[in-house]
Amino acid sequence: MKVSVHGCGYLGAVHAAAMAQLGHEVVGIDVDAAKVSVLNAGRAPFYEPGLPDLLAEGTTRGALLFSTDAADAAGADVHFLCVGTPQSAGSGVADLHHLDAALAALRPHLRPGDVVVGKSTVPVGTAARLAAELPDGVRLAWNPEFLREGHAVDDTLHPDRLVYGVPRDEVADGGETARSPEPGGAAARLDAVYARLLADGVPRVVTDYATAELAKVAANAFLATKISFANAMAEVCEVAGGDAVALVGTMSYDARIGGDYLGVGLGFGGGCLPKDIRAFSARAEELGVGRAVAFLEEVDAINDRCRDRAVELVRSACGGLAGRRVAVLGAAFKPDSDDVRSSPALDLARRLAGEGADVVVTDPQAIALAQAAAPELRYATEVAEAVAGVDAVVLATEWPEYRDLDPAALAAVVRSARLVDTRNALDLAAWRAAGWDARSLGGASVVTHDASRPGEEMVTG
Ligand code: UGA
Repeated sequence: MKVSVHGCGYLGAVHAAAMAQLGHEVVGIDVDAAKVSVLNAGRAPFYEPGLPDLLAEGTTRGALLFSTDAADAAGADVHFLCVGTPQSAGSGVADLHHLDAALAALRPHLRPGDVVVGKSTVPVGTAARLAAELPDGVRLAWNPEFLREGHAVDDTLHPDRLVYGVPRDEVADGGETARSPEPGGAAARLDAVYARLLADGVPRVVTDYATAELAKVAANAFLATKISFANAMAEVCEVAGGDAVALVGTMSYDARIGGDYLGVGLGFGGGCLPKDIRAFSARAEELGVGRAVAFLEEVDAINDRCRDRAVELVRSACGGLAGRRVAVLGAAFKPDSDDVRSSPALDLARRLAGEGADVVVTDPQAIALAQAAAPELRYATEVAEAVAGVDAVVLATEWPEYRDLDPAALAAVVRSARLVDTRNALDLAAWRAAGWDARSLGGASVVTHDASRPGEEMVTG
């Protein structure tokens, strides 16, 4: 099939390359000429494991090309909308101007029989509005994407589910669409695009627009809630003298709860979870059901307090922050990504610097983007350079190479062997054995208050 993909960022570039891998002839459209030329050279404009190989393979074979001109999408059977829907400045509302602009550029090139497929994360109600703006004979589907950065290629080629939001006339047929989609309908067209995935047994849900739009935000809201639940338990443990990592470990044995997304630490960031829960709250408020998701404000607040608690942990480890030299390991919002949007690690570095610490940040992939987002901070490309002469080392993004650091070797180059692990990723016993004062968020080693001696601090564990 001929496929066009509009927006070639973290979502669209991966989707375009994956569609070529599935055997389609793909054109990716983006307004950024520099990004388009990098992609046409078969290279990835951002760090994503596996993507360079897929791009090189697709472009070399001639199955994948990129352009800044939406006219190059003419003649495609399916047009995927993959542009970003960031948070609006000054409010939680999703900013849809990229989506509206992409559709406006595409609209003159659509012909009857084409199917437009939205993949961007949008407030519920957007698909119905956009469907009404399409030319006669062009159908719209909403097909949310559940990929994670860092695993994007695998998540796209081996998704755990496919969700199609299709026009009402396709779903109001007593489930017939799901069994055998009407030829020419949006669901049938998506089945043809994803034929290989369906043959692999990937489950697919055919539903209405609203359910498909909500399928994405509900999943992200649930994941964010799980993370904040774990971090709320960490707050309680830090005061009550418990060990939050052990606590969520006990919960994870319960198959109804599971252990995923219960990581105790610095909390969530990135281009999705933070803005999606805010956009969901804002949309629910507009719909008059704000109370139904009011808990998401608390989820957001717990997440923000993780960063405050991390600052306090570093402060108590160092006996103050002003003038203390601190190395922050990690700037990306999570490992295997160079994305620093709403990065907890970079925000922690900023907050420490804001409290007067002399901060140096390092990261295996994200330094260039971090430098652009936070030029006021100092950066070092190597861990050894970052930690030389510091008063504390703070692990903020759990890159595999940081898990493998040798505590004895590092102890020899720092000024004071103090470690704060904000991700509960390191073996603190091994670090302590190498002479480090090692602390972690929510862990039994956190400096806490001894109820029997008010005002005094003690270290447990
Ligand atoms: C998230 C969802 O996981 C994807 O399913 C979704 O498609 C995507 O958003 C999106 O909306 O496009 P992503 O933002 O790539 O994916 O990142 P995650 O791997 O979910 O991690 C999000 C944040 O949560 C990271 O900062 C991570 O460090 C943090 N996290 C994750 C925790 O703090 N604790 C955990 O236990 C797990």
